[in-house]
Amino acid sequence: MIDQPTIDRILDAANIVDVVSEFVTLRRRGVNYVGLCPFHQDKSPSFYVSPAKNICKCFACGEGGTAVHFIMKHEQLDYFDALRFLAKKYHIDIQERELTDEEKQVRSDRESMLIVNNWAQKYFITQLHEHADGANIGLRYFKERGFRDDIISKFCLGYSLDERDALYKAAIQAGYRKEFLEKTGLVITYENGSVSDRFRGRVMFPVHSLSGKVVAFGGRVLKKDEKTAKYVNSPESEIYHKSNELYGIFFAKQAIVKVDKCYLVEGYTDVISMHQAGIENVVASSGTALTQPQIRLIHRFTENITVLYDGDAAGIKAALRGIDLLLDEGLNVKVVLLPDGEDPDSFARKHNSSRFIDFIKENETDFIRFKTRLLLDEAGDDPVKRSSLITDIIRTVAIIPDNIARTLYIRECSGMMEIDERLLLNEVNKIRLRNNEKQPTAPVIETAPAAAPQPPDAKPPEHSPFEGLELALLRYVVRYGEKILYEYEYEETNEKVIIRVAEYIRSELKEDDMPFINPLYRKMLDEADASCREDNFVASRYFLAHQDASVSQLAADLISEKYQLSKYHAKFQEIKKEEDSLHQMISHDVFGFKEAYIRKQINEIGLKIKELQKTADLGQVVTLMKEQDELNEIKKALNKRIGERIILKM
Ligand code: CTP
Ligand code: MN
Repeated sequence: MIDQPTIDRILDAANIVDVVSEFVTLRRRGVNYVGLCPFHQDKSPSFYVSPAKNICKCFACGEGGTAVHFIMKHEQLDYFDALRFLAKKYHIDIQERELTDEEKQVRSDRESMLIVNNWAQKYFITQLHEHADGANIGLRYFKERGFRDDIISKFCLGYSLDERDALYKAAIQAGYRKEFLEKTGLVITYENGSVSDRFRGRVMFPVHSLSGKVVAFGGRVLKKDEKTAKYVNSPESEIYHKSNELYGIFFAKQAIVKVDKCYLVEGYTDVISMHQAGIENVVASSGTALTQPQIRLIHRFTENITVLYDGDAAGIKAALRGIDLLLDEGLNVKVVLLPDGEDPDSFARKHNSSRFIDFIKENETDFIRFKTRLLLDEAGDDPVKRSSLITDIIRTVAIIPDNIARTLYIRECSGMMEIDERLLLNEVNKIRLRNNEKQPTAPVIETAPAAAPQPPDAKPPEHSPFEGLELALLRYVVRYGEKILYEYEYEETNEKVIIRVAEYIRSELKEDDMPFINPLYRKMLDEADASCREDNFVASRYFLAHQDASVSQLAADLISEKYQLSKYHAKFQEIKKEEDSLHQMISHDVFGFKEAYIRKQINEIGLKIKELQKTADLGQVVTLMKEQDELNEIKKALNKRIGERIILKM
């Protein structure tokens, strides 16, 4: 038991931001920090950490409390073990009194299993280096594969002797109980009472949990002609749920946060070889399809995931499977296809690390673009194949939870597949409505204020096609509203003209009488336009501190990196920072918005014409058709401008 003065010291030392950020990527929001809640399926940050109060709290699921509570819940520890965990972190010596036999008994099975696994890890390492067989067979195998000493020791690789019960005997001798050797699967007891080791004559890969505990082992055979399975793995147990763990996450988490990206590979050796090549933000799904808990584990550290695939046909097929789950979680997914016949491990061994890194950089493709192109090539001119391809892509795009990202993908795919953007948008919205009906509990992502209550039999409101486009513009207003976009002088009068971001957007929309449809967005644009000339006005600060909670909430979302830029923008972001290219980006999006607006008007007139044709009011029809022609002219002009702007920039 820990004595009280020690407990007090630990409680004083434990800084909530410090403790939480070891597991959750936190971003500053005002006086607090926010991140994705580790305790429920959080798609937008709901987990708040207050340094002032030294507590954390999830506004969605309610979990939270002090640093000790957080660790108890997160690491599944009891109160005292959570204190021990924190003491270790803060290098506080624990004054502990000896446990009574009774107390020892109470220690959970879980704990005992972890302890025995930890012992086994050390045992396997010792065999690898100190036993003749370990060194001659196991260590030699690793060396032949090119694994360096520092990497072998980092991943705690080991060797299991090719004997019936070497580990079992050693464990009993060291005082470990058979019960826990069985529960962890390290030994197997047969019906006739005989006991044998699970892992025999294999090189050993321990599997570490997020916090570095040994939850399982994988043992690989050495001989190529072996008829037994290539890997023997620990069974599922109280401490090991294969579908919840990702191989390498403990060694990768810091690098994932730092690089803000996670590479996903298939196996143990891929992870290890990539580390050796200097790429540490990598985890493996261990040969099975990714599961939702695994994806959520990644999502806690980054939104960007790049999947590395073998370049054979099976690898490509695999690339298409399972990715929808990643998109559904709101991750940005990219794909790298390795050359035919290579996996990350073999590729890393054949090339030096800078070549590997370059290869990834050069070949990283946005997943949806990758899939569209692949399917397009496959379909060729076959109309049946093309139509099934379109359905396929639409279904994938519809999964993306973020409004802006989805809208931009629709635009891009409409270009690639040469299909009307409107049509795609409609289809995508239809699927989304259907999906939402299927899961009524799905979180609502729309940031627009709730519409007036609908009578129960009313159809659900059509998703405004402008939502994403309006948000994209509003994002500039919130982030850069007060920034100067143009500055010039009239030569004759020497009059200086300054136009700021909010003013520009507002006046462009006003000029053509195309206000935002969403009333909340309209209100925010108007307020920014009205204030942006004031001294010391900073749009982001103004909106974040806004007394209307729906405004400050939306502003926080738009300021966080949650909203990704379009491909078009991302492209020249590589060259310049967003702030330096505001002019091009904003005008591009303003014209895009106008074009969509006009398209809608043309559409509406088309519907009216259809109606009127029934009543045979020809005069009216002709007037409307003229109107439609004019709009079409404007639309063409706008398209040309958008096009010119794109070409200019590339
Ligand atoms: N795997 C497994 N059980 C098997 C085969 C594979 O658990 N019988 C998992 C392991 O996690 C393995 C991953 O699937 O790392 C990928 O399999 P594979 O590419 O066959 O293994 P590698 O570890 O890459 O082995 P090597 O490169 O030595 O062939
Ligand atoms: Mn392999």
